[in-house]
Amino acid sequence: MSERENSKSVSNTMWGGRFSDGPSAIMREINASIPFDKALWRQDIAASKAHVAMLGVQGIVSAEDARAISTGLDQVAAEYEANGVPENWDLEDIHMTTESRLAELIGPVAGRLHTARSRNDQVATDFRLWVRDACDQVDAGLAMLQKALVTRAGEHVDSIMPGFTHLQTAQPVTLGHHLMAYYEMAARDRSRFAAARARMNLCPLGAAALAGTGFPIDRDMTAKALGFDGPTANSLDSVSDRDFALDYLMAAAQCSLHLSRLAEEFIIWASQPFGFVALPDSLSTGSSIMPQKKNPDAAELVRGHSGRIAGCLTALMMTMKGLPLAYSKDMQDDKPPVFEAAGLLALSIAAMTGMVAETTFRTERMRAAAELGYATATDLADWLVREANIPFREAHHITGSAVKLAESRGVALDQLPLADLQAIDQRIDDRVFAALSVETSVAARASHGGTAPSEVLKRVAQARAALGME
Ligand code: ARG
Repeated sequence: MSERENSKSVSNTMWGGRFSDGPSAIMREINASIPFDKALWRQDIAASKAHVAMLGVQGIVSAEDARAISTGLDQVAAEYEANGVPENWDLEDIHMTTESRLAELIGPVAGRLHTARSRNDQVATDFRLWVRDACDQVDAGLAMLQKALVTRAGEHVDSIMPGFTHLQTAQPVTLGHHLMAYYEMAARDRSRFAAARARMNLCPLGAAALAGTGFPIDRDMTAKALGFDGPTANSLDSVSDRDFALDYLMAAAQCSLHLSRLAEEFIIWASQPFGFVALPDSLSTGSSIMPQKKNPDAAELVRGHSGRIAGCLTALMMTMKGLPLAYSKDMQDDKPPVFEAAGLLALSIAAMTGMVAETTFRTERMRAAAELGYATATDLADWLVREANIPFREAHHITGSAVKLAESRGVALDQLPLADLQAIDQRIDDRVFAALSVETSVAARASHGGTAPSEVLKRVAQARAALGME
């Protein structure tokens, strides 16, 4: 029998017409957070152990009681590990579930654990610990993604593809350069998670319900035991602050935007008209009706998940908006969006890491596409500026005429006879053809951070060193 069926009672005659359950049952259901906050059990046990050890040292509970409680908590943890956390809505949340089981195991001494704390500082501490771990996990995942990007970029420092603006062929670039753009995005994401982690690393435990406590607690001790840099400074803020969760979600949302952009590249590249990549079978699916199809579902889901992750951020922002100090029960709704975003983000990072690592890049198709679309038109204009001392605006105009002529004949720029180019502007000579190849074009763009293979190679080497790949 489910928890809901378990709790039938008579509905309220005034307003309960549409409810099959009575008000107390509805209260019980709406109040219960155990279905989701049981995910915090490890953090809850760790925080309780740190708290009771401190109570013992400070003489707030006897050393003997502190030991009994600590051993009992280990036993509860072992049960959770083996059988999962039981879900009893009457116990509301993970904090009461654990305390109640502790009391069954060690008797009334369990009641001393909650001295000098409240569920308000308890949940704030547990959740911070959880989000801190989540930052570490994302960081490890992003490092893997970066390694995959750097590895593939290293293989393709001189593979030429069209670079786009407005998704129109613009100038030739190297595939390595394109992939390394995502390395830079991931680097910024990692720094955002690191900054969020550093900012959140203060311990709210000991703020108690909202005002602090009259017991002689040692907040430095509990903070240190839980790996925090120190205790938080204001008890009201401690129990009502969820900035750490919002910081995490903001970093997650921005990271997911990057992943969705990378996913979109793969989706476009895998389409038949492009044909730039063959996606790994392991991250694609077939169609139930069209036998020829191989769909980029994983990439599409990463693109879709970014919408959900941004939704999680919005959900928590709206929950926190306008809440007066200190704790309000609204804040119990802080966890589901964070848990959801963390799960979606971890999957998205893993999917994109696999896609980058295992995709086959069809470099001959990319190169052919770079040669279409007059990608080296800027190089012709630059040549006119450099070699014929023509002002850029005029060079731009001359080049436009050359492109128009080539287009009308259905040929590439470097296939126009010199005589025709000279008819457009007689200052053009046959040295121009060397400037019009895609190789010359990319090699020329050796400004700092440019697409030239020499520059990409440099950045790949720096990235490999930063990732400890050497
Ligand atoms: N389960 C609650 C939460 O997740 C913590 C308990 C605080 N409850 C309270 N009535 N003060 O926010």
